[in-house]
Amino acid sequence: MTAPQPPTLPRVIGHRGAAGHAPENTLASMRKAAALGAAWVEVDVMLSGDGAPVLIHDETLERTTDGKGRVSETPLAELRTLDAGSWFGPAFAPTFADERIPTLAEAVDLVAELGLGINIEIKPAKGFETATGRAVGELAARDWPPGLLTPILSSFSADALAAARKAAPGLPLALLVGRVPTDWRERLEDLGGTLLHCAERHLTAATARVVLDTGHHLLCYTVNEKARGEELYGWGVEAVFSDYPDRLLNM
Ligand code: G3P
Ligand code: MG
Repeated sequence: MTAPQPPTLPRVIGHRGAAGHAPENTLASMRKAAALGAAWVEVDVMLSGDGAPVLIHDETLERTTDGKGRVSETPLAELRTLDAGSWFGPAFAPTFADERIPTLAEAVDLVAELGLGINIEIKPAKGFETATGRAVGELAARDWPPGLLTPILSSFSADALAAARKAAPGLPLALLVGRVPTDWRERLEDLGGTLLHCAERHLTAATARVVLDTGHHLLCYTVNEKARGEELYGWGVEAVFSDYPDRLLNM
């Protein structure tokens, strides 16, 4: 079977929504990305204590909510009571105080409403790699709104990607890495993936060329300066993730 290819990629993908402008991984952040002109967003998805896929980056609640403890030990009903917006800064508190941790289902409804593409990063808490990949894959395969662009599922976790692939064999998969490892191609192809998402700070023009010459897609995170975006595009990088998508649009 040939590995699933992504839809046409945008140049800029809003990182965690538009994390430079609004509290990351909230509906407000996704709306902000769309308002700034981004055509796609990336979000991080983890399971609640009772197995619901929700948008959050860290395994613990302290940095981005007013809660405490581990996401994987907190039931959805309790997660939903938390303030996921006020931490973004006192100046913004009135704007974002009502933000809650979104469920993945809510995020999908919103991208459908806004006409955005979405890269769902499967961000499992340690020990929940397979369960998280399966939950995300099942939702993306079964409950995807008709007409909405095919999502890209990505992860640093090979176990999560393998579970997502089993649940959603038709969806494009991306392997996330920091520095591009020497065995990246074998790892990506073993998973049935067609996209490599790497950290921009370690990438060189030579490595970008090696990846692109194989015909695989190459994307970079997190690019917040226009000049660096220009350099990466010049090397052939197809898209970048940015907390400030507005800085890189119209280039
Ligand atoms: O998906 C790209 C990027 O979000 C990966 O790193 O830690 O920001 O989720 P992180
Ligand atoms: Mg991410």
